[in-house]
Amino acid sequence: SQYNIAVVVGSLRRDSFNRKLATAIARLAPADFAFEQLQIDDLPHYNQDDDGNQAAPVKRLKAAVSGAQGLLFVTAEYNRSIPGVLKNAIDQASRPYGQSAWKGKPAGILGVSVGAAGTALAQQHLRNILAYLDAPTLGQPEAFIQAKDGLFDGAGNIGEDSKKFLQTWMDSYVAWVRKHNA
Ligand code: FNR
Repeated sequence: SQYNIAVVVGSLRRDSFNRKLATAIARLAPADFAFEQLQIDDLPHYNQDDDGNQAAPVKRLKAAVSGAQGLLFVTAEYNRSIPGVLKNAIDQASRPYGQSAWKGKPAGILGVSVGAAGTALAQQHLRNILAYLDAPTLGQPEAFIQAKDGLFDGAGNIGEDSKKFLQTWMDSYVAWVRKHNA
């Protein structure tokens, strides 16, 4: 059987390092894993008044998450937390109350930033949110990545310096997803 992984990138920037990382790391997964980056830039701002009548992009997001066997968050850090667009997507798919799409989905968290702390603070906030939503998150290895020349090669693959570490990360993530779907 195939494992469909819903990938949520926490940055809308055209040349986002996090989007590049999400694309590159998917290539390190085994053949029975399929990664789909979910669109979140067309979601309305979350408004509880809309819980009974969710917009089409919200329904699309919830369907994609519900149909996935695992989640992969690859996020930027904004002001020592997750970007608002990511929080909005999480809030949207968590509602109406009792109908959260995130519940029980095994999740991996990655992030790259230009700062030396490599999204560590954003990732920690994200872990809090996912704990509340009952989405079990892979604890180790942690991956706090700083954007540097050579992080990606010319073909958009993970560069030599980070390849071994990120392969280990992916192997751990794959085992985590398999375990939670056994
Ligand atoms: C940042 N950046 C940033 N970096 C970081 O390491 N810690 C932080 O708290 C912040 N805060 C922050 C706030 C805002 C509003 C912006 C626009 C940027 C820098 C950030 O790491 C950089 O812009 C990355 O390129 C963002 O990731 P993407 O868009 O390349 O995926």
